[in-house]
Amino acid sequence: MSSEERASFSSKIGMLLATAGSAVGLGNVWRFPYMAGENGGAAFILVYIGCVVLLGVPCMISEFIIGRESGSNAARAYKKLSPNKFFGIIGYLGVLAAFLITGYYAVVSGWCVEYIVASAVNKLHGSPDFFKTFFDDFAGGAGRAVMWTVIVLLITHVVIVKGVREGIEKASKFMMPALFILLIIMVVLTCMLPGAGKGVEYLLYPDFSKITPKVFIDALGQSFYSLSLAMGILCTYASYYVKKVKLPKTAYQIGFIDMLVAILAGLIIFPAAFSVGVEPDSGPSLLFVTLPNVFQNAFANYPVIGYIVSIFFYALLTLAALTSLISLHEVSTVFLAEEMHISRKWGATAVTISCIIIGSLCSLSFGGREWLQIGGQSLFGFLDFITGQVMLPIGGLLSCILVGWFLPKKMISDQYNNWGTYKTHLFNWYLFCTKFLCPVLIILIFLHQFGIV
Ligand code: PHE
Repeated sequence: MSSEERASFSSKIGMLLATAGSAVGLGNVWRFPYMAGENGGAAFILVYIGCVVLLGVPCMISEFIIGRESGSNAARAYKKLSPNKFFGIIGYLGVLAAFLITGYYAVVSGWCVEYIVASAVNKLHGSPDFFKTFFDDFAGGAGRAVMWTVIVLLITHVVIVKGVREGIEKASKFMMPALFILLIIMVVLTCMLPGAGKGVEYLLYPDFSKITPKVFIDALGQSFYSLSLAMGILCTYASYYVKKVKLPKTAYQIGFIDMLVAILAGLIIFPAAFSVGVEPDSGPSLLFVTLPNVFQNAFANYPVIGYIVSIFFYALLTLAALTSLISLHEVSTVFLAEEMHISRKWGATAVTISCIIIGSLCSLSFGGREWLQIGGQSLFGFLDFITGQVMLPIGGLLSCILVGWFLPKKMISDQYNNWGTYKTHLFNWYLFCTKFLCPVLIILIFLHQFGIV
């Protein structure tokens, strides 16, 4: 693919929904609500908004600038703009992270599909132990979990092969509104449950005494992951943005949508859980063990509504996961297509086949198979650790340093204010964050993950 025939998003809304689709993912549902509930409710949400404004948005704008300026895949983008070879590796790091994450993210997306089916055939009924056994047997088995991983990757493949406008943009224009409609219906249904008010209070009652430095650093880490930073995604998508797109405004809009979805997810989870006196947790066990049990009990008197809620909830998760998966897949696909001079179709095929292999191995590693353990943890856990805790902070840090300290200021300001046609007063503030604040915050996140601060 040459840059002349490079695709672009055809509309503002398509561009916004595709980018928001990448940001809105499982992290919004399985981590944010729990963190907010545990750490001071509305007080945490305020801290989180601060993290998005101080770290998330400036980093997002920087990736947008690199992507739109270079008009190429993430690896080439950084290579093109970097003053030396060292910074050129940032793009490769992002592409590699995105590629590895595609494999294991597909596994969890596959679990969501299994739970839509299990809800639809009314299989999710039993004691709390039943849900645990059901999940362990399914996720650790060699059958359906692997099958769904493959199917989810094939669906993603079909979208990617169709290209930016016909594939990614069209899929996002359908999936994101569907996700919002499901979210709203679910919030209304769960908030009407008896005792739901306690859940709303738990999520939203501000308790500033719970805000400690640790909570602040955790919130920073969550904002970084939730906005899909440092994976080459935002840079790749921005390479499809037309000149009219206002990068800072888009970054704020994405940050807002991402947080709105996370809060609404909390307004489903907590009211439902509190109405039956269950303490919600986080991660896979929340989605696949705790919540099916909660839905079953909360709607025991209205089984039809319970049935619908369960299907809708997993459909919502699947949509959130798929739009993120599409963005991950796109990063590696366009990288291969442009660097190896092959068609999008062949690039996508190579990515899909490799991700099917990685994804299947990740899925199998759940069953405790010895040969799929690395350093005492499953392949799944290992990939999650190495990408999320090591590659992402390093990529994000180097990106900020590159943009803040090495790229020509004129180029950055042209991209920031659309060659002077978009009046904004915040450019100096953005530069300050990128140069000083963001690197310090990312180093804090990195050290905190290893227990150093
Ligand atoms: N931003 C996504 C979420 O909140 C996470 C994600 C990770 C998306 C990796 C794409 C790639 O779940």
